[in-house]
Amino acid sequence: MKLRSFMIISALSFGGFALMSWQSQQLPHPIPQEATQGKQVWQDYNCISCHALFGNGGYNGDDLTHIINKRSSLELINFFVKPPVMRPNHKRLHPQLSQDEAEKLVQYFKFLDKIPTLGWPPKARKSGENI
Ligand code: HEC
Repeated sequence: MKLRSFMIISALSFGGFALMSWQSQQLPHPIPQEATQGKQVWQDYNCISCHALFGNGGYNGDDLTHIINKRSSLELINFFVKPPVMRPNHKRLHPQLSQDEAEKLVQYFKFLDKIPTLGWPPKARKSGENI
């Protein structure tokens, strides 16, 4: 390769790279602030000990990656603010959250729902159904 073509290719690659990094700085911050606060609520109550996100976490409760598709925001908020008693022995309440915490958590679930997961979590099989 001649030195001149090498110089041109280098200049173009550098220009392209500079343009890409400039563009990425122009994009809005991808995680809304409320969702970040909701993630903090998720951590504070250690929800991961019983629920998975993206398949990672506890298996006591359901995988909640796309829970917002299954329940409305209002249903979820009511569930968190006035929690039911829990399986398996129904002796303990599901963690109780304030209205504010519940709303932030729902924003976190809405954000999670936008992340493409190729159909994860899979639908639960009925007992007796073949794999
Ligand atoms: C000690 C285990 C445990 C912890 C901790 C826990 N959960 Fe649960 N969760 C369950 C179980 C079990 C259920 C199934 C409902 C039932 O039988 O009471 C459930 C149900 C749910 C549901 C309803 C799911 C559906 O399909 O409708 C949501 C939403 C949920 N939990 C969110 C959370 C969040 C958010 C936290 C943290 C604030 C949390 N859970 C903490 C065990 C837990």
